[in-house]
Order: sequence, then C-alpha cells, then structure tokens
Amino acid sequence: MRRVLVVSVVAICSVLTAAGMLGKVLAAGAPPTVDYTKILPADLVKNTPKGKLANPYKDTQADIVAEGQHLLLSYGCNGCHGGGGGGGMCPPLINDTWVYGGDDDTLFRLVVIGSDELQKLGYSRIGRENVVGPMPPFGTIIKSSDDLWKIFAFVRSKYNGDPAYKFGAPPDPQ
Ligand code: HEC
Repeated sequence: MRRVLVVSVVAICSVLTAAGMLGKVLAAGAPPTVDYTKILPADLVKNTPKGKLANPYKDTQADIVAEGQHLLLSYGCNGCHGGGGGGGMCPPLINDTWVYGGDDDTLFRLVVIGSDELQKLGYSRIGRENVVGPMPPFGTIIKSSDDLWKIFAFVRSKYNGDPAYKFGAPPDPQ
C-alpha cells in the first residue's frame, strides 16, 4: 500500500514537472519550426509577409556552405554568376552592390520570382552593377526552400565587399 502511494506520488511529480517545463517553453514563445525541406520556395514567398524571410543557416557552417556550393552549381546559377558567385555574364553576388537590397528577404524573393515580377511588386533597381538584365524566376525549379537557403549561405560565405554592406546598406547613423 505504502509502496503504491510512493510510486504514485513520484508519477504525479514527474507529470507536474513535465507540464511546468512545457509551460515555460510555451511562455518563452518558441517560434514554430518551419520545415524548409518540405516547402517549395515559390510557396514560402507566397505565404510569408514581406520582410520576414530569414536564412536559418549561417555562412560559418562549413557543411552547409559546402552543400550550398554544390546546389548553386547543380541549379546552374554559375552559368550566369560564375561558380564562386563572382559574376560573369551577369552581376556578381558577392560584392557590396545590391541591385534591389542585400537582405535575406529581398534576395530570396528576387531569385524565386525573378526581376520582372519583383519590379511589378514595386521594387526598383537601387544598385547599379556593370551588367544589367533580368534575373529569371527559379521558384519552381529549386526543389525546396532549404536548398535555396543553403545556396545563400554559400554566397554569403564568399562575400568580399565592405563588411558594413554585407546584408545591404546599413541604416543611416542618427
Ligand atoms: C540567365 C542568367 C541567370 C541565372 C541562370 C541566374 N541569375 Fe541571378 N541574376 C541574373 C541577372 C541578370 C541579375 C540582375 C537582375 C536585375 O538587375 O534585375 C541577377 C541577380 C541576382 C542576384 C542579386 C545580385 C545583386 O547584386 O543584387 C542574386 C542574389 C542572384 N541573381 C542569385 C541567383 C541564384 C542563386 C541563381 C541560381 C538559382 C541565379 N541567380 C541564376 C541572371 C541570372
């Protein structure tokens, strides 16, 4: 009898502890995790409000950067931008001139919907590269948003411009 009591007290305590931990996790507002491997880039763009797309990877993650390099080549970005993103027929991706902006959100949208659609949404060319032309839409060619985030991790890792402009023009000092 006593043993049963002890066991049930222990059981109740662990349920309470688990509930408490869950409560803390929920209270901390843990962001819902998005499985980028299952979302087409085109759908992610459609379903995410402007300004909210952010790369889950860092360009210091060597394994991700290596995968990104492989993906950039396999999707043929190199045909226009060069294998290291340094430019060729088309603008470099790794300097500090950003045609529409250098933040994750703008770059992701540009590659997914292409220049023409981006301009229809009100974006305009604010940076001037030596070569000017349309970036084709890749939104349904790239198999998952995860692939595209990895490509950007690689591109960022090759950045060779002014560090202050890595993610676009820095805000004006007040
Ligand atoms: C047919 C050639 C072509 C291919 C293929 C291509 N791009 Fe582009 N890309 C361009 C052009 C041209 C621009 C400039 C767009 C503009 O001025 O509107 C551009 C612009 C960009 C920019 C913005 C550069 C800046 O300085 O602001 C990024 C990032 C980019 N492309 C990434 C990619 C990625 C990633 C791929 C492969 C999935 C890719 N591109 C494939 C032609 C291409």
